[in-house]
Parts: sequence; C-alpha cells; structure tokens
Amino acid sequence: MNIVLGVSGGIAAYKAPELVRRLRDAGADVRVILTPNAARFVSPLSLAAVSNHGVIVEQWGDAGHGGVDHIELARWAELLFIAPATANVIAKLTAGIADDALTTYALAHRAELVIAPAMNTFMLAHPTVQQNIETLRARGAGIIEPVNGLLACGEEGAGKMPDVPLLVEHIRGHFASRDLDGKSVLVTAGPTREPLDPVRYLSNRSSGKMGYALAEAARRRGANVTLVTGPTALPAPAGVALTRVTTAAEMHAAVLAAAPHHQIVIKAAAVADFAAANVADQKIKKSESSDELTLRLVKNPDILADVARVSPRPFIVAFAAETEAVEEQARAKLQRKGADLIVANDVADRTIGFDSDQNEALVIAKDGEVTRLAKAGKLAIANRVLDIVVGRLAR
Ligand code: CTP
Repeated sequence: MNIVLGVSGGIAAYKAPELVRRLRDAGADVRVILTPNAARFVSPLSLAAVSNHGVIVEQWGDAGHGGVDHIELARWAELLFIAPATANVIAKLTAGIADDALTTYALAHRAELVIAPAMNTFMLAHPTVQQNIETLRARGAGIIEPVNGLLACGEEGAGKMPDVPLLVEHIRGHFASRDLDGKSVLVTAGPTREPLDPVRYLSNRSSGKMGYALAEAARRRGANVTLVTGPTALPAPAGVALTRVTTAAEMHAAVLAAAPHHQIVIKAAAVADFAAANVADQKIKKSESSDELTLRLVKNPDILADVARVSPRPFIVAFAAETEAVEEQARAKLQRKGADLIVANDVADRTIGFDSDQNEALVIAKDGEVTRLAKAGKLAIANRVLDIVVGRLAR
C-alpha cells in the first residue's frame, strides 16, 4: 500500500514518526508531507529517517532540487492520510485552498482520503469545524473520530488523536481484501428505547460503536450493507443504507422486512428485553399519596429468533453481553437463539464493551469452535469477526 501521510501542525504531530514506523511494519510504503507548522512540532529529518524517503515541507521545493512533483506523487498514492488534521487544514480541504505543499497535494490526489482530526474540544465542537468534517465525510473521506482524553491544552474532552495502533488498524481496514464483494450484510446496532411516557424511556448503555464498526468493515470489504440502528450519537457511516429506529418493536419490523434480502445478518444491537405494558399518554406524575411506583413490563419480540425462521435463512451472527460466566452463557444463548456464530463480550470489564473504543471478545461457532479475539479497536474486532464469517461461508 502506498500512503501519502500528511501531518499538520497540532501537538499530536509528535506521534508522526511512530505512525510512519507502524505503517511500514504493516507493509505500507509511506511518503510524508508536513505543513510548515507541523515542522515546528516534529523534525523532517526524523521523518525522513523512519520513512526512508525525502520529506516534503516547502511548496516550491528548494532551489537546487526543483518543486514538489505532486502530480507524480498522486499517480503513486493509494491513500492520503492526514494525521493529525487541524481545524485549519480541514477547512482548507473543504474549500479547496492550496497554499502549502500538503493542501496543494490534496487537490492533485485522486485516491482515498482519510483524516484524523485532532484539536481542542471547543474548536472541535465549533459549528464551522463540524460542518467542514461533515462536508468531507459526505464527499467520501474516512474520518477517524477523535477520542476523549486529557488534551495538551489542559482541557479534558473530545479532540485527542487516537493512539498509533488504532490509527494503523483503521488504515489496514482501507486495504482489506474485498472478500464480501456481491454479498449483502444487515447489521443492527445501538440500544433500543422503550418509552414510559412522553418524556421518559427505558434503555441501556450501548453506544452502537461495535455495530457501526461492523457495518463500516463489511462495506470496505465490498458488501452491500444495511444498518438498522437504535438511537446513537454516532455519525452515519458513508456508503451504507441506514434505517433509524427507536423501539425494539420498530427494530423487529425493520429487520424482518430486510432480512430476506440479506445473506448475512449481524445482530450487534442491545435490544431492550422489556417494554412498558402501557405507555402513558401524559407525563407520569409523582404521586402525592405513595412513595412507590410500579411499572408493568412486557417482553419484546426476540428479533434474532424470528430472523432464524426467515426463508432463505441468512447466516446469523448474534452478540451476547454478559457480566459473568461469559463462555457458558454465550454457548447456551447460541443454541437457544439458533444463530451460526455468537460474539460474546464481558460487559463487566469497563475497559472494553459498552461505550469503549476497544473490545475483546470470544467468538463461538455452532460446531463449538471458539476463537478468542484479543483486546483491540472495534474496527479490528469487526474485521476479525468478518474473517470468521467469510471462512465459515466458504466451507
Ligand atoms: N436480541 C434480539 N431481540 C431481542 C433481544 C436480543 O434480537 N429482543 C439479540 C441481540 O441483538 C443479540 C442477542 O439477541 O444479538 C443476545 O442479546 P442479549 O440481550 O445478550 O440476550 P437475551 O436473549 O436478551 O438474553 P439474556 O437477557 O438472558 O441475557
């Protein structure tokens, strides 16, 4: 894989040499372009050493060596990866401004673009920045979402560039083989919300990240992907048919309507098991007379069990979120649900699972084969799960 790595002037630029190293370990050939500001954070010399190529900083080159042949570079590149991408470079990419070597190259670049925005929380939340990121996403750019953490400015919040291994995983995904070409994959994601009255609902802590990662990974591997999602804070993944639902009943209807047209169904959603027997028309008032309130709940339909009865029956991947005896519970659930594969998570472990960017899982197949997936980013876990699905379908 031929990668042009663009580094713009944020503090996270200090990670660039490590990033180049790891990308090369992953088999990439990397050419680096620095913005003049990035060159204040990280030395072109060290990047030249780790990439084994000259590093471009000056738009017009130095007098002795001529200008940057960005057209030649664009013929070579399969991916332009900008990490970190500052608010400034994101704005220039959006507007088509070409006032340095990186942004000039970006206009000549014809292959895929992936950016890893990194900046102060409030800058990231600024409507202009958000709008620019959405514009790039709509044009097909891959966005590696910044993570929460302590930022260089001392503030705590979103805006941090993910660690190098996560970035590399993401980039690997871009070069994944297209082994799901011609296949259609239905993924469910997120929690469901079961209303109690016009202002309250029952739900769970699912963020939807695992399901969205599966949808994105399947799409990159060539599948036609439908994503049925409960309410999440995540941006819609590009190139995926999206159906938004709120309740388990709505998810049930959407999934059963779509399932017959899909060869693979992956049920990553955390469906609420119960819904209120009666949804109050008006806000439930705190009663003056009693200190207790009894809610009567009724069981929601089991979507997965109904998908297993669809004809032609798709290949079914279930998920199991457990807090104890994970393997045992997951095995029983696999049998009970009639799925082909179950991906089990230990949700008692706060460093993985719900709302985390990382996951660790146990994948159990119908014939009893167990694969342990070590802790990794959710996109990497998604790809490992799809590897197993592809392997099983080929049997
Ligand atoms: N699931 C479903 N419909 C439901 C409940 C769950 O399709 N009404 C799916 C989930 O999407 C997941 C799998 O079933 O793929 C297991 O979900 P989980 O909540 O762990 O299992 P339950 O069947 O609810 O079992 P339990 O509550 O006993 O853990």
